[in-house]
Amino acid sequence: MTSRFSRRTSFPVCNDKGSSRIRDARSEQPCLQQLLELRLGRREFTAMAATAVVLPASMAACSRAPAVSVKPPALPFKEVPFSETAEDVLAEGHTRQILISWGDPMSPGVPEFKPDEVSAERAGQQFGYNNDFIAWLPIAAERPEQSDHGLLVINHEYPLPWLMWSDLDESTAAAAMSKGQVDASMAAIGMSVLEVRRENDSWNVVIDSPKNRRISMFSEIDIRGPARGHPRMRTREDPEGTTVIGTHDNCNGGTTPWGTVLSGEEGSSDFFKGDFEKSPDREHLERYYYDLRSETGDYGWGRFHPRFDFEQELNEPNRFEWVVEIDPYDPDSRPVKRTALGRFAHEGAHAVLNHDGRTVVFMGDDWEFEYIYRFVTTESYDADNRAANRHLLDEGTLSVARFSDDGTLRWLPLRFGEGPLTAANGFSDQGDVLIQTRRAADLLGATPMDAPEGFVSDPRTGVLYLALTQNRDRAEHQVNGPNPRADNEFGHLLELFAPSLGDGQHDYAAAGFSWSVMLLCGERDEQAPFHPDTVAESRFTDPDNLSVDPQGRLWVCTDIGNGMRDALYVLATEGTERNLSRRFYLPPLQSECCSPAFTPDGCTLFLAVQHPGEEAQSVARAVTNWPSEEPGQPPRPSVIVITRDDGGVVGGEMEA
Ligand code: FEO
Ligand code: CA
Ligand code: CA
Ligand code: CA
Repeated sequence: MTSRFSRRTSFPVCNDKGSSRIRDARSEQPCLQQLLELRLGRREFTAMAATAVVLPASMAACSRAPAVSVKPPALPFKEVPFSETAEDVLAEGHTRQILISWGDPMSPGVPEFKPDEVSAERAGQQFGYNNDFIAWLPIAAERPEQSDHGLLVINHEYPLPWLMWSDLDESTAAAAMSKGQVDASMAAIGMSVLEVRRENDSWNVVIDSPKNRRISMFSEIDIRGPARGHPRMRTREDPEGTTVIGTHDNCNGGTTPWGTVLSGEEGSSDFFKGDFEKSPDREHLERYYYDLRSETGDYGWGRFHPRFDFEQELNEPNRFEWVVEIDPYDPDSRPVKRTALGRFAHEGAHAVLNHDGRTVVFMGDDWEFEYIYRFVTTESYDADNRAANRHLLDEGTLSVARFSDDGTLRWLPLRFGEGPLTAANGFSDQGDVLIQTRRAADLLGATPMDAPEGFVSDPRTGVLYLALTQNRDRAEHQVNGPNPRADNEFGHLLELFAPSLGDGQHDYAAAGFSWSVMLLCGERDEQAPFHPDTVAESRFTDPDNLSVDPQGRLWVCTDIGNGMRDALYVLATEGTERNLSRRFYLPPLQSECCSPAFTPDGCTLFLAVQHPGEEAQSVARAVTNWPSEEPGQPPRPSVIVITRDDGGVVGGEMEA
């Protein structure tokens, strides 16, 4: 494998000595100075320039910060030690509160959670199962700094019926579930909208809020964008191809500049039954990992709902794996599947406002050897007219990334009629290109990645962070710059840099970006290691959800699975402590914590604890009853709230 340093000496060098507006006209890539500014932050870069540090050429690509005499940001909390305890453990000086758990009522008059209840109607009024993504929005849309009263929009990814009902066992549940259980599990996933408020140092759900809302597998959802009404979207129940009942596998997401929430449907094959070899759509199904022969699907849906038998309803799979947009401020609004953003296993959808008013959405397709995508709206966001932004995401350009080992990447548009995306290759129109996003991206020569998950930006610096969870199947001959390890057991983090326009602006819609490997997780690695002061057990692996706190630290949730203990870590991103990691929270046994969501003041952290006790095949065998700790109770996925005991910034304030 080529050394990463020798690969990265081709960045153009700035020739303007001062203005970072000037870019190398040959490539549209940021110059060395701009890269260093992005990497180190303006403050460190200025300090470094003032001390006339001469960088070796290789430093242009080094993911370790040069040793400059700038006081670094710190992680001012004590490491949470590893523990075998079934309960969760939080960094000292902080408190966690259970905000809401699966089954809790979301409006007045709805009964409290009762184990073994079987009612889809009830489940549709209670907080859903397996909470994942959390979006925070201020209750007053015009006050973005508001930090004590807001809306949470929460994804509920998938059910675990054998941990929801005590008469089920994982090995037989899909075949044994009653229709009542199937329907109740379908009502328990999707999304929740909750109004929440901080009063007297504790956070509460505003139970009588008219904004509280559940969206589930029984909600009507509009299909919009180029695939609306497409022949491949039409079914017996929806002959027009314009309305889908339900959303599932809602994983991560994002918020838009106009205050709506995007939810990524991250796959669908587990929810269907059928024999792919009997389908006339076999190749397409296989590309979406419907390579199965299942008489029930994982959750028994197809036994009672024929549309989840892909032998009976050829096009139903095409109606999932989209991005769903919901308006949490309007409880009567219909959610919309935005087909212009492509069809794949959407981990999330991270939206940023570009300097020219267009909205840019970054997305990963969370499977080994899948791609990263970007969507750029055609029209600009109108800050003065919220309604005008309502369907901005229906028109624009979806692109997929092709990385080069010289530290650059190109965004390749998926446009019908261009390049290989023509009738000669079996595409009928733009809707068809989007329904078959993966095949279109294959033909364009996109770069297969190591399971892309978290994708966030730091608004202070413009840097984008991307988590690649792992890829044990990458062979030596498949190693490349952005995926530099064969048998990638531990995953890694990349940084992506949009060209700088100066004054803190970046062109997220540019055809070319640059990138750098930020951190190779797990064991020590010379190429992009953890900071040497990181203790062994804080060298995390399998990074999944990422969040940037208001101070620019990166919060990393891991998703190792297989009974390994996941946790929440904080990673310093700048200065001499860059890549120093420390464990902040250990969620209960056999759970992962998802989607750290901060209030704008940084003083509250909402966190989703998903699938506690998930390795058990039944409630009776669960290793934890978290959070009740009462024997016999099923473990319950819950949203927790973390605050600091002195009311300060969660994780502590970094030193200036
Ligand atoms: Fe739902 Fe990619 O985790
Ligand atoms: Ca995830
Ligand atoms: Ca998981
Ligand atoms: Ca994951």
